[in-house]
Amino acid sequence: FETLKDQLSDNSVSFSVGMPLPPLLVLYGSQTGTAQDSAQRIARQAHRRHLHVRVLPLDDYDVANLITETLVVFVCSTTGQGDPPDNMKNFWRFLFKKSLPVGSLSLLDFAVLGLGDSSYPKFNFVAKKLHKRLLQLGANILLPVGLADDQHDLGSDAVIDPWLSSFWAKVNILHPSLLDVRPLRDDEPLPPTFTFHFLYGDEVEVKTEERRLHPVEPSVPFPARMLFNRRVTEKSHFQDVRLFEFDIAQSNIAFTAGDVVMMRPCNAAEDVEQFCQLLRVEPEASFTLQATNNCTVPARLPQPCTVRHLVETYLDISAVPRRSFFELLSTVATNELEREKLLEFSSAAGQDELHSYCNRPRRTALEVLADFPHTTAELKMDYLLDLFPEIQPRSFSIASSLQAHPRRLQILVAVVKYKTKMFKPRRGLCSSWLASMDPEQGDVFVPLWVKKGSLRFPTEKETPVVMVGPGTGVAPFRSAIQERIAQGKMANVLFFGCRSESKDFYFRSEWEELKTAGLLRLFTAFSRDQEEKSYVQHRVRDNAELLWDLITHKNACFYIAGNAKQMPSSVCDALREVFQQQGRLSAEQAEQMLVTMERTGRLQNETWS
Ligand code: 2AM
Repeated sequence: FETLKDQLSDNSVSFSVGMPLPPLLVLYGSQTGTAQDSAQRIARQAHRRHLHVRVLPLDDYDVANLITETLVVFVCSTTGQGDPPDNMKNFWRFLFKKSLPVGSLSLLDFAVLGLGDSSYPKFNFVAKKLHKRLLQLGANILLPVGLADDQHDLGSDAVIDPWLSSFWAKVNILHPSLLDVRPLRDDEPLPPTFTFHFLYGDEVEVKTEERRLHPVEPSVPFPARMLFNRRVTEKSHFQDVRLFEFDIAQSNIAFTAGDVVMMRPCNAAEDVEQFCQLLRVEPEASFTLQATNNCTVPARLPQPCTVRHLVETYLDISAVPRRSFFELLSTVATNELEREKLLEFSSAAGQDELHSYCNRPRRTALEVLADFPHTTAELKMDYLLDLFPEIQPRSFSIASSLQAHPRRLQILVAVVKYKTKMFKPRRGLCSSWLASMDPEQGDVFVPLWVKKGSLRFPTEKETPVVMVGPGTGVAPFRSAIQERIAQGKMANVLFFGCRSESKDFYFRSEWEELKTAGLLRLFTAFSRDQEEKSYVQHRVRDNAELLWDLITHKNACFYIAGNAKQMPSSVCDALREVFQQQGRLSAEQAEQMLVTMERTGRLQNETWS
């Protein structure tokens, strides 16, 4: 504050006495970190205007206080199925309570910024619904809800930038005192959120999460011992798919078919080394963190902490950096050439170039640092937590059931690796991290927790389930089939697709055993074993009569899971054709039937990328 005042008096501007600046609250709901990034960007813009600002995930905020707030921006993404992100689920439940009095938010001026993807049917559903609800509760709208779209040619900034300009214009009108203070320019550095206090003692004990190996409360990850890491595709096959098994005996973890397991990967040791070299810091140096304003030190970081632990477990240095990374770096760069380039990448005009430099080749933040060696070498540690997002947890459909594998949890993971114009192949952080673990060389522990998934399987014994799961999409269905068989549910139909019968037909012997026992009907599509592509949707068409009978006479539920982008819609097309052909329905009637199945939960899908 003192420096700020000095700066202001240097520029012969003064605070207008008696007209306090409004405190701004930025609340976000973020699943993968994009909404969080936008929320932080808004906070930085507020700091530049000398506002007192707080940024919090919605669930970390005590909602009861909302009645006293005067200026709030909500930034929310919408997940694939139209649901709110995990870190706003409690807030969501609270906000829609019928008992909330209409008019209770009459002090509040608010704006909602939604982040979504228009290729999903429920585009920005959460933001729109939140906006409506706040209005209903009597809050005052500052501007129409912003609907950023990932599918936009110029990225979501194409909506966010103008939306933010209108937001600030509105705030300026409502709070003219803001016009009395000179905002910091975009290229002037802001103070970092945290300061690092390095410790120079001999032996500083760092208590890391991984060392707590005993049963814990449900909200805290359980360090599960990996029991095996087994490749399930042929050695010669292009894709490395692994089945992992974890021991959860000492935990209170429970799950049913359709649930997902969450885990947070770590950066590879060589990336951590390279990062420390580029920044010229000693990996074993230890420090404590102090928040410089009303932020709190992330609970996940031990205090004291080593540089290695911070970089390995917390800073996402292997993701493609966002524009905000360049914005921040440009404000602290001292080398002129590098600073110019960074400024260009942060500017609106430089977005195409940034896209070809970063997004298209999937360049990692670490590789970007290596391209800006002067800036990196001079970078103050204090900025690390502003610069790098936290590593986000990844989710995997659980591939086993507790009935078939008591005290165990299995997941099926494709090890992501692909080429771009970059010399080194690109690798998925979490799948590579898991694949690199060798439980035969000693104990390895993976902190994990379990979440309810979106797939629900019928409880009635007789209801048949039809499951379409090509590739790793079969994971939740393996769990469901194991669970159902243990419960005496015999009507199981599986459509599985892969490239080749001899190379990636995983779980083949398991399926064949169940088939022989009369517990599973299996249909396979091997896409590359013949000239013509053969996909699961082709098998759906081939079995029109059976499917029509199961769906219309036996009330079957139909499930689709997988990661191929077009696959679910092609399978739905095939289903419509089945309805038209077998039921002699018109295209509209077939569509209606599909929609009804979806609405009543008899058609469900879970897709991921
Ligand atoms: P392909 O790679 O030969 O195209 C598991 O990945 C299986 O799903 C593979 O056989 C893959 O075939 C197939 N697949 C890819 N795209 C698909 C789509 N749009 N619909 C159905 N299956 C698809």
